[in-house]
Amino acid sequence: MRGLYMAAALAALLCTGRAAAQADAPLIQGESGGWRQGRATFYGGPERFLQNFPDRGPPPEYGFGDALFGSCGYTQQNYTEGVTYDNVPFPKESLAALANVDVDFPGSCGRCYEVRCKNGLVLANGTQIFNTTQGYSLPAHAPNATDDYGRHWLGNPTEDLQEQSVLCWNQSSLFVVVTDNCPCIQTDPNTGAVTGTNSPCCGNIYHMDLSYWGFEQLAHPLNGIMMTEFRPVSCDTHQPLQFNPGFINSTIYGDKVETGWAWFPYKQNTDNFWLPGAGIGGSNATCIELGPKAGGLTFASRKAAQSGYQPFGQASAVEFWLKDKNGSSTIPDITVGAGNYDDKKYCSSLKTSSLTPVQRQGIYAQFSIPISSFQCPFDKSQITQVGFQNADGQLVSFCLDDIKIVGSGGSGGQVSASSVQTGRRLKTAA
Ligand SMILES: *[C@@H]1O[C@H](CO)[C@@H](O)[C@H](O)[C@H]1NC(C)=O
Ligand SMILES: *[C@@H]1O[C@H](CO)[C@@H](O)[C@H](O)[C@H]1NC(C)=O
Ligand SMILES: *[C@@H]1O[C@H](CO)[C@@H](O)[C@H](O)[C@H]1NC(C)=O
Ligand SMILES: *[C@@H]1O[C@H](CO)[C@@H](O)[C@H](O)[C@H]1NC(C)=O
Ligand SMILES: *[C@@H]1O[C@H](CO)[C@@H](O)[C@H](O)[C@H]1NC(C)=O
Ligand SMILES: *[C@@H]1O[C@H](CO)[C@@H](O)[C@H](O)[C@H]1NC(C)=O
Ligand SMILES: *[C@@H]1O[C@H](CO)[C@@H](O)[C@H](O)[C@H]1NC(C)=O
Ligand SMILES: *[C@@H]1O[C@H](CO)[C@@H](O)[C@H](O)[C@H]1NC(C)=O
Repeated sequence: MRGLYMAAALAALLCTGRAAAQADAPLIQGESGGWRQGRATFYGGPERFLQNFPDRGPPPEYGFGDALFGSCGYTQQNYTEGVTYDNVPFPKESLAALANVDVDFPGSCGRCYEVRCKNGLVLANGTQIFNTTQGYSLPAHAPNATDDYGRHWLGNPTEDLQEQSVLCWNQSSLFVVVTDNCPCIQTDPNTGAVTGTNSPCCGNIYHMDLSYWGFEQLAHPLNGIMMTEFRPVSCDTHQPLQFNPGFINSTIYGDKVETGWAWFPYKQNTDNFWLPGAGIGGSNATCIELGPKAGGLTFASRKAAQSGYQPFGQASAVEFWLKDKNGSSTIPDITVGAGNYDDKKYCSSLKTSSLTPVQRQGIYAQFSIPISSFQCPFDKSQITQVGFQNADGQLVSFCLDDIKIVGSGGSGGQVSASSVQTGRRLKTAA
C-alpha cells in the first residue's frame, strides 16, 4: 500500500475524517484533447533524498510510503532474491495511485493517464490556496536537496504570501499507469486500525499520487505537491479515452493485464505477470505455480459494480486459454470462480475437469464458461472478479492467456478529439 505522503502537510487544511464528495475534474477551457485539472503529490523515492526528512517517519520510507507494492497486485515475486523494482512490471517513474474518491476511481487498476505539470498556485481544495505555514514543508527542512538529476529547487515565487506556487521544469507529458490507490483514511489491512490520513486524497480536487521518480520528471520533488493537467489515455496507443465513466477493458488479460483489472496471485510458489512466449501463438501469458495446499490468481475490477461500469453487466460468458506451465499436455485441473471483489460475495466455482474445452491449440485448451454456470446469488452486473484456484490439493503449475468477457463487457472507450473536447459521454463500448 502507498504510505502517508503529505499527510502532515495538509491534515490541518482538509481532513474532516471522512472522504468528501468530489465533482468531475473540470475540463480545461480552451484546450482540446480532454485535458482536465488535477493535483499530484508523490510517494516512494530514493533514500538519498528521503533521509533529509527523518522527522517525518522512520527509514527506509521516512513517511513517504512505498511504491513497490501497490494495491492492484502487479508486483511479481522472486523468492530467490528480495523484491526490488525489477519485480514491478512497469518503469518506476510510471507508477501512480488514484485517490479513492476520484470520479473515475472504479476499475482504475491498470488505467493509463497522461499528466503534465501546471505552473502556479497549488490549491488546498476546491477554493483555498495551499498555505506553506500549515503543516510539513519539505523546503523548510532541506532547501538544498537535489533531485536524481542533481537539480536544485526553483523556489516558491509566492512564499512571502504564504501561498505555494510551483515552477514546473516544463510542460512535457508523463505517462503513468495506476498500480495503487490513495485512500483518504489509511488503515492497517490486517487489523483495520486507522494508521493515518492522506488528506490530499480526501476529495474536492481530483488527486493522483505519482511516484517520486515520475514527479521529478515534472517539477522538483521539494515542491511536494503541484497542480496538474491530465487525461486518461490508452496504455497502448496513448490516444485519449473517455474520462467518466473510466475505461475498463472487456479483455482481462491480453498480452498483459488489461486496463481495469488488478492481478492478485496468492499463496503461490512462483508467478509471472507476463511470461514472454508462454501465450497462445507465442504471445505473453500469465503463469502461476500453486503448492498443494491452496492458492490462486484473481483478476478484480475494484468498485466496478456501480452503474456506468459493471464489466459483466451484459456478459454471456468468460473465455480463457489454459495450459500446463511445465509443458505437459494434460490440462491442469483448477477451479474457476466469479464474485464481487469489494463485498467479498462469491458465486459457485467450476472445475476445469468438469468442462469440455471449446478448442485446443498445442497444449493449450480454450474454455468458455457461461455466466449462468456460476449460479451467482446476485445479479451478474455485480460480478467484478474472476479467480483461478488450486482444485485438487496437488501441486499445479499453469498459464492463462486471452481471458475475455464475452458479450458486452467493459466500460468507456476511445473517443474522438471532438467529443473529448466537449466532454460528451460516449456509449459504453460493445
Ligand atoms: C476548503 O478548505 C477551507 C478551509 O481550509 C474550508 O473553509 C472550505 O470550506 C473548503 N472548501 C471546500 C469546497 O471544501
Ligand atoms: C530471480 O532472481 C534470480 C537472481 O537474480 C534470477 O536468476 C531469476 O531469473 C529471477 N527469477 C525471476 C522469476 O525473475
Ligand atoms: C496561512 O496560515 C497562517 C497560520 O495559520 C495564517 O496566519 C495565514 O494567514 C495563512 N495565509 C494564507 C495566505 O492563507
Ligand atoms: C543551501 O545552500 C546555500 C548556498 O549554496 C547555503 O548558503 C545555505 O546555507 C544552504 N542551506 C542549507 C540548509 O544547507
Ligand atoms: C522536460 O523536463 C524533463 C525532466 O526534466 C526532461 O526529461 C525533458 O527532456 C524536458 N522536455 C523538454 C521538451 O524540454
Ligand atoms: C483492450 O484489450 C485489447 C486486447 O488485449 C487490446 O488490444 C486493446 O488495445 C485494449 N484497449 C485499450 C483501450 O487499452
Ligand atoms: C510482454 O511481456 C514483456 C515482459 O516480459 C513486456 O515487456 C511486453 O511489453 C509484453 N508485451 C505486451 C504486448 O504487452
Ligand atoms: C514444474 O517444474 C518445476 C521446475 O522444473 C518443478 O519444481 C515443479 O515441481 C513442476 N510442477 C509440476 C506441477 O509438475
